[in-house]
Amino acid sequence: MAGLTALQAVRSIGTKFDGTGTGANILITAASGGIGTYAVQLAKLGNHHVTATCGTRNLELVRSLGADEVLDYTTPEGAALKNQRGKKYDYIINITYDGKWSMFKPALSSHGRVVDVASCCENYVASVMTLFARKKIATMVMTMKKEELSFLVELMKGGKLKTVIDSRHPLDKAADAWEKSMSGHATGKVIVEM
Ligand SMILES: NC(=O)c1ccc[n+]([C@@H]2O[C@H](COP(=O)([O-])OP(=O)(O)OC[C@H]3O[C@@H](n4cnc5c(N)ncnc54)[C@H](OP(=O)(O)O)[C@@H]3O)[C@@H](O)[C@H]2O)c1
Repeated sequence: MAGLTALQAVRSIGTKFDGTGTGANILITAASGGIGTYAVQLAKLGNHHVTATCGTRNLELVRSLGADEVLDYTTPEGAALKNQRGKKYDYIINITYDGKWSMFKPALSSHGRVVDVASCCENYVASVMTLFARKKIATMVMTMKKEELSFLVELMKGGKLKTVIDSRHPLDKAADAWEKSMSGHATGKVIVEM
């Protein structure tokens, strides 16, 4: 699910994986999470310039996934979503629970768009209000697609995409896994082993 959500978000901004894409300046929030760790890798495979946000402890990890610039969301500069080049984003893929349209709008280029994976009430309203605006936000819901799952598996087999694993838990400790997964502070995926 995390991989498919990331793939569909990255594809929704017109990403090509055959080397023909020109690439855009994009921001990915919560890049250290289950979806974000895949989204950063997929966006780089699509030739985008990627700025990514995460907490202090995961800055190196997110850099190692290929992000061109990593912002620490716990600092004022990171919270302001400003990259070092001072360049506005063509696209923002929002994966944080608390990412709001009012935060993203100033960071977008004149025709920029937010793809909202983790929607909140404000963002739903904004998606309607911005339907005919130059800067837009659109919410996204993942759908199961076998061919996209196969595409991800092929990337993994080819060593081009990896799964970041937060922790592994035996089945009788599935409650611990669930708690970690729901904490909003996992790094990558939480695994239950059977
Ligand atoms: N649209 C869809 O179809 C779809 C599908 C699946 C999931 N979702 C939604 O997508 C969201 C993300 O899911 P997920 O499983 O990827 O999340 P997750 O794994 O729980 O994300 C946790 C990570 O996000 C980081 N983080 C938390 N707040 C942040 C912030 N403000 N800025 C930057 N990083 C932050 C945390 O870092 P720290 O620990 O350092 O704070 C942690 O590493 C959820 O709301 C989920 O419901 C949507």
